[in-house]
Formats: sequence, structure tokens, C-alpha cells
Amino acid sequence: MFKSIISLALFAGAALAQNIAIAQPPQGASVAPGSNMTVQLNKPNSLSSSEEVAVVIGIQSCSKSACSAPADILGEILYNGAYNPVYHEPQLPPYQNISVTIPASFPNGTAQIGIVHVNLIGAGPMPNLQTLNQTITIT
Ligand SMILES: *[C@@H]1O[C@H](CO)[C@@H](O)[C@H](O)[C@H]1NC(C)=O
Ligand SMILES: *[C@@H]1O[C@H](CO)[C@@H](O)[C@H](O)[C@H]1NC(C)=O
Ligand SMILES: *[C@@H]1O[C@H](CO)[C@@H](O)[C@H](O)[C@H]1NC(C)=O
Ligand SMILES: *[C@@H]1O[C@H](CO)[C@@H](O)[C@H](O)[C@H]1NC(C)=O
Repeated sequence: MFKSIISLALFAGAALAQNIAIAQPPQGASVAPGSNMTVQLNKPNSLSSSEEVAVVIGIQSCSKSACSAPADILGEILYNGAYNPVYHEPQLPPYQNISVTIPASFPNGTAQIGIVHVNLIGAGPMPNLQTLNQTITIT
């Protein structure tokens, strides 16, 4: 019992250490419909091994109703493809910039970027699915 709690905690810790973070756009960034936006996804340095699979980036409008969790609704898919974080600047963790285009007809107001990240952790390997979100403003 105790042992399984510990291995569960280790497992969760391993998964957390392999989770990525949204470095760009910042919370509340203003973006025009039809324009390009850089989504910068950072992968923290970590000792445990993980193999990247893919990321999906979606956008949903939340100007008329509350944003849904990206695990439930991703909205319009802006990117669905490879994730290859590499070192660029020595002071930053490995990352990849992904350029996406905001649809020209996208409604003004609050919008949410939803991200799905899939990777394989450890020797198992254990599949890991992570969802992230960032709120921006379409103006
Ligand atoms: C957005 O990026 C695409 C692909 O790089 C480019 O063809 C297009 O001109 C860019 N659009 C704007 C508004 O900068
Ligand atoms: C967005 O992510 C934050 C953590 O960064 C979380 O607290 C929040 O519940 C998420 N929102 C939705 C709608 O999933
Ligand atoms: C990634 O995007 C950020 C923000 O736009 C920029 O500062 C950085 O130079 C870009 N990195 C690369 C390697 O293009
Ligand atoms: C979006 O905002 C711009 C600038 O404020 C405005 O000109 C435009 O009419 C708005 N579009 C919609 C669909 O509300």
C-alpha cells in the first residue's frame, strides 16, 4: 500500500518534470485576426528521459461564453504536428517556436489558446498527455 503510494508519487513527479510550459504568447496578449502569432513552448531541463510525440494548438472564442477546458474543447485547430524543442539561447530551456495564423474571421474579444502535448516518459515508456491554456485578446 505504502509502496504503491510512493511509486504513484514518483510517477506523478516524473510526469510533472516532463511537462512543457507556454512561454509565448503572454497572458492577455493582443493579436489581430488574420495575423501570425508565435507560440513558444518550453521544455524544462530534466534528467529523466522522455520522447516527444506531438502537440496540437487550438483557439476558441470566449467573448460570449466562458472558455472551456482544452481537455474538453480545443476550438479551431491552428497546428497539429511535431514538437522538437532544442536549445537556442544558453539561459533558456529547450524550446520550439511554432507560428500559427489567427483565422481572419475570428471574433474580437477574449480567446483561449488550448494546447495538447503528448510524450513518452521513462523506460516503460509511460504515455503522458498534458493540456495547457493561455488567454489572449483578439482586437
Ligand atoms: C504568416 O506566415 C505565413 C507563413 O510564413 C506567411 O506566408 C504570411 O505572409 C504571414 N502573414 C502575415 C500577416 O504576416
Ligand atoms: C488554464 O490553465 C490554468 C493553469 O495555468 C488553470 O488554472 C485553468 O483552470 C485553465 N483553464 C481552463 C479553462 O482550463
Ligand atoms: C522564438 O520566439 C521568441 C518570441 O517571438 C523570440 O524572442 C525568439 O528569438 C524566437 N526564437 C527563435 C529561435 O526563433
Ligand atoms: C473588432 O475590433 C475592431 C477594432 O476595434 C473593429 O473595427 C471591428 O469592427 C471589430 N469587429 C467585430 C466583429 O466586432
